[in-house]
Amino acid sequence: MSRLVMVSNRLPVTVRHQRSGIGLIESSGGLASGLHSYLAKNPGAWVGWPGLASELLSSSQRQQVIDELAKRDYHPVFLTRRLVTDFYLGFANRALWPLAHYFTQYPVYSQRQWQAYQQGNELFTEQTLHQAKPDDLIWVHDYHLLLAPEMLRRERPGQKIGFFLHIPFPEFEVFRQLPWRTEVLAGLLGADVIGFHTEGDRQHFADCLARLLGLGGNGRQVLVDGRVVTLGVYPMGIDSGRFASAGSLPAVRRQIAHLRRQMGERHLILSLDRLDYSKGIPRRLEAYGRFLKSHREWHGKVTLVAVTVPSRQEVTEYESLRRNVAERVGEINGQFGTLGWVPIWYLHRSVPFELLCALYRTAEVALVTPLRDGMNLVAKEYVASQENGQGVLILSETAGAAAELDQALIVNPFDLDQVAAALATALAMPEEERRSKNAKMQRHLAGATVESWAESFLADLKRD
Ligand code: UDP
Ligand code: G6P
Repeated sequence: MSRLVMVSNRLPVTVRHQRSGIGLIESSGGLASGLHSYLAKNPGAWVGWPGLASELLSSSQRQQVIDELAKRDYHPVFLTRRLVTDFYLGFANRALWPLAHYFTQYPVYSQRQWQAYQQGNELFTEQTLHQAKPDDLIWVHDYHLLLAPEMLRRERPGQKIGFFLHIPFPEFEVFRQLPWRTEVLAGLLGADVIGFHTEGDRQHFADCLARLLGLGGNGRQVLVDGRVVTLGVYPMGIDSGRFASAGSLPAVRRQIAHLRRQMGERHLILSLDRLDYSKGIPRRLEAYGRFLKSHREWHGKVTLVAVTVPSRQEVTEYESLRRNVAERVGEINGQFGTLGWVPIWYLHRSVPFELLCALYRTAEVALVTPLRDGMNLVAKEYVASQENGQGVLILSETAGAAAELDQALIVNPFDLDQVAAALATALAMPEEERRSKNAKMQRHLAGATVESWAESFLADLKRD
């Protein structure tokens, strides 16, 4: 029987040095949380980086990591400090990530980082070939591994190879910036099926294939050296049942009770993301400031709980963002706060599942305003968590999730007055309207789960 072999840079667990020795903590981000919920119910192997430079492990610790991960059918790709810097933090996160999110002034293009990117992709390819038998399904994920499909194809011409991009695929005029644009496209075309979250991403990719490689087709399939490559749209879902039922967990109930005691009569507005410039956090805070300025009647009655999960801290732009966000929080609290009221509670750390669910359930409004986002699972998790249908989602039109969560208050995240007005609308929204909006979106989420997402992708891969 054929097995599924997932391949991604990030494994669902990250190795850390702890006082007691080597430990595993849960990884953050949508890819890890999404694929993990799928593999928890469906068997499959996973090839990925354990999250720290190999120099930080002695040879016995390395073996310990291999053994510990093997128990879960995870198989590590060890990256040296140089590759962590130039492949992961470098080419993947200083060139590809900003480019895909339309931050066209941020990318750094360096020959050294490009070479490291190729080497990184080779290491993942080697470990994958080691784990996958010829009739297994190989499923490669995300922008760190754009060259791996072609590298795998060279070694295994007959293998089923899928690729899914979890971030946006930018328009041609943006993508053309990349000095290695044709190499990247050729790398992806090693796959049989290339999946995107939205129709827009697929169109951008097909357009780039036509304009940069002269490859025509109907936008859904292209012929590459006599091989058909399918371009598919598969919006990633969540395990909505897990979020819908989390309210019955005693630990979640305790957290909710605690939060309610702390909040008193105040209404909780939630802002929760990885600390990433694509998430639009400073602008969101500014919009909240405008709301407070123009809606004095809400002073003392709302609290914005802003959670930023630390991410890629070694990259300059993330470090300056951290300072920028902390400053803005301070400014708003200083300007509007009183001795009895703090307008923003700021947490810069990851939160355990129980607290996450309690925040989703307690928040009357979720402010999800990324400037660009491939999908945005936080928005879906928030809606799925609304037990009594009360919460109102404010969502960016530039998040992939906006195509599905059409009952949300959809905003342009650059239009701060519109976001401020949406906050006022959300807080004043009648109960009936909240319930009916959530019910519609929850029905959609219950049918479009992470399992059905993976199954529809894999069905196309098997069929191909
Ligand atoms: N999440 C997490 N750690 C936290 C808080 C949240 O891993 O401390 C999860 C959250 O539940 C969601 C994911 O991180 O599943 C974020 O996914 P999203 O698609 O919203 O954004 P990404 O971080 O992948 O850009
Ligand atoms: C996004 C990316 C994932 C990545 C995650 C967390 O969701 O699409 O590939 O794993 O962010 O980022 P990190 O750099 O910590 O893996």
